[in-house]
Amino acid sequence: MSEQLIFQPSAAAVAHTHTNAEQYEAHYERSVSDPDGFWAEQARRLDWVKFPTKIKNTSFQYPDISIKWFEDGVLNVSYNCIDRHLDKRGDQVAILWEGDTPGTQDLVTYRQLHERVCRYANVLKANGVQKGDRVTIYMPMVIDTAVAMLASARIGAVHSVIFGGFSPDSIAGRVGDCGSKIILTADEGRRGGKIIPLKKAVDEALTKVGGVEKVIVVKVTGNAVNMEPGRDLWYHDEAAKVSADCPPEPMNAEDPLFILYTSGSTGKPKGVLHTTGGYLVYGSLTHQLSFDYRDGEVFWCTADVGWITGHTYIVYGPLANGATTLMFEGVPSYPDASRFWQVVEKHKVNIFHTAPTAIRALMGAGAEYADKYDMPTLRLLGTVGEPINPEAWLWYSKHVGKDRCTVVDAWWQTETGGHMIAPFPGAVPTKPGSATKPFFGVQPVVLSPEGKLQEQTKAEGVLAIKDSWPGQMRTVYGDHQRFVETYFSQYKGYYFTGDGCRRDEDGYYWITGRVDDVLNVSGHRLGTAEVESALVAHPKVSEAAVVGYPHDIKGQGIYCYVTLMAGEQSSDELRSELKTWVRKEIGPIATPDLIQWAPGLPKTRSGKIMRRILRKVAENDFGALGDTSTLADPTVVDDLIANRQNR
Ligand code: WT7
Repeated sequence: MSEQLIFQPSAAAVAHTHTNAEQYEAHYERSVSDPDGFWAEQARRLDWVKFPTKIKNTSFQYPDISIKWFEDGVLNVSYNCIDRHLDKRGDQVAILWEGDTPGTQDLVTYRQLHERVCRYANVLKANGVQKGDRVTIYMPMVIDTAVAMLASARIGAVHSVIFGGFSPDSIAGRVGDCGSKIILTADEGRRGGKIIPLKKAVDEALTKVGGVEKVIVVKVTGNAVNMEPGRDLWYHDEAAKVSADCPPEPMNAEDPLFILYTSGSTGKPKGVLHTTGGYLVYGSLTHQLSFDYRDGEVFWCTADVGWITGHTYIVYGPLANGATTLMFEGVPSYPDASRFWQVVEKHKVNIFHTAPTAIRALMGAGAEYADKYDMPTLRLLGTVGEPINPEAWLWYSKHVGKDRCTVVDAWWQTETGGHMIAPFPGAVPTKPGSATKPFFGVQPVVLSPEGKLQEQTKAEGVLAIKDSWPGQMRTVYGDHQRFVETYFSQYKGYYFTGDGCRRDEDGYYWITGRVDDVLNVSGHRLGTAEVESALVAHPKVSEAAVVGYPHDIKGQGIYCYVTLMAGEQSSDELRSELKTWVRKEIGPIATPDLIQWAPGLPKTRSGKIMRRILRKVAENDFGALGDTSTLADPTVVDDLIANRQNR
């Protein structure tokens, strides 16, 4: 696909936009030359108990990494997302909920949301939760989950949402890491016509980790679940005992708001910590400007609240802006591949935001599902989470956007809090497959893999960021050293993203994917090390190496090389047993796609596995194996090639 394919903003987008082309350039310039002045102005979009006098205080100088924004400001996130809207939009719909089962829906107005959040906050208090305590949330896509997050924010507790697809082991690890004494969950969830046994997973997790005193259970499906006396409480019983009045706790701008666990290239998932003021300023500003959101519009982001996209663009960004945010319990393919488009028409959605993997799957199902729907209210389409191939971008623009919607491809990460590189609608022309230009205050740089700054416009290498922005993560919860080493040690003076990228002659950024051992499977982030350690925990496995390979729908698939213990026989049954095993250890998103039996792995004489070779074999790119003469036993490569799995 040619890089020269450029879409100029439509007249409608130009007329609508908050930021035209000249303003984009001028504001961008100001945002990087005068960050204190620029961000002090932007901070005024929130209501503060005490407006900050100090704006930016950050250092990327290794090893003294310190990031503070608005550090003497005082505010409350739930107040900004709810209370301050009550006068003007108390009766406006805040959260519009569409159930997994077609025909089921629900909503809360801002006034109702206020009541529910206050009540939930009082339930937390009544159960011993205090400012600064960690609250684990393992819930399905229901309104109460957003309520629980906002309730935690209201009393100054720190939530840690765990995606409902994670296994009991994964829950236990995360609960233990942050020392959470309370878990908020539901009896069960629904997804794609299936029941997700959430409470059962929590029960199992609690056999593996101590310290949890209370489990509060929201009734969703109403099916019978085990309730442990003294530990487990029904939310509706607790809510009936408390008042619906709970004043918001004044928080320092740098007080923690939430922890979200995400995978890295090594070790266990790390607790990415976001704080109060900078996160909300950045989340609400990016929500408004990169989606060009206007008052009264219906905004739909299809992510799960268990991921950062759900935090910033289902809950905090839209609600801080007084939007109507749509929350969808289901999946794109249930009951069939037209579900998204039915929902867009039914709820008159204006802005729709999904992931490339969903677009590719729907494209594969056939354009007729989208072509049946005119979706006249739609005017902007978002894509986020992984590189989008130009073909899928063009399909999305044509069959969903009907060639009249702006397509916004936004690059960002759990660590960045909000969008970092994305086209300003109506201001920045788009090129299919490119996330285009940086957001205000974001200074991307391209470095050679060895760390040399690429100063010419047209360049290729790894993507790093030169200076801090308000939405940046502050630390790894409980392990600041890991934060410093992971993001700031490899390329001194920069935040290293872990992504590779290309910058074209127009200064557009094209993200090429991770350059580290992080996989992006259907937009879900996974460390190869996590899958490897799950595999070697199986009694029949002696060694395992895991790499990604190109997958038409998922973006990347999980390719595992497995060496069995001496005397163990390989078989198709063992292959499916190992898939089930990994699924159970981590969760369904980590299910291996391909398992190859490898009598030996390619190792150097010092015993280091040469992953480069494993990647190339998995990619079916045997011509580019490079030098294999340094291997301890070069013949293992022939065996690997001969036994490559072809899905
Ligand atoms: C990784 C971050 C975006 C928030 C949800 C995922 C990849 C993300 C794009 C994009 C190309 C993208 C990167 C990044 N990624 N957005 N628009 N184009 N790649 O957050 O789970 O922390 O994953 O997702 O590789 O590093 P995450």
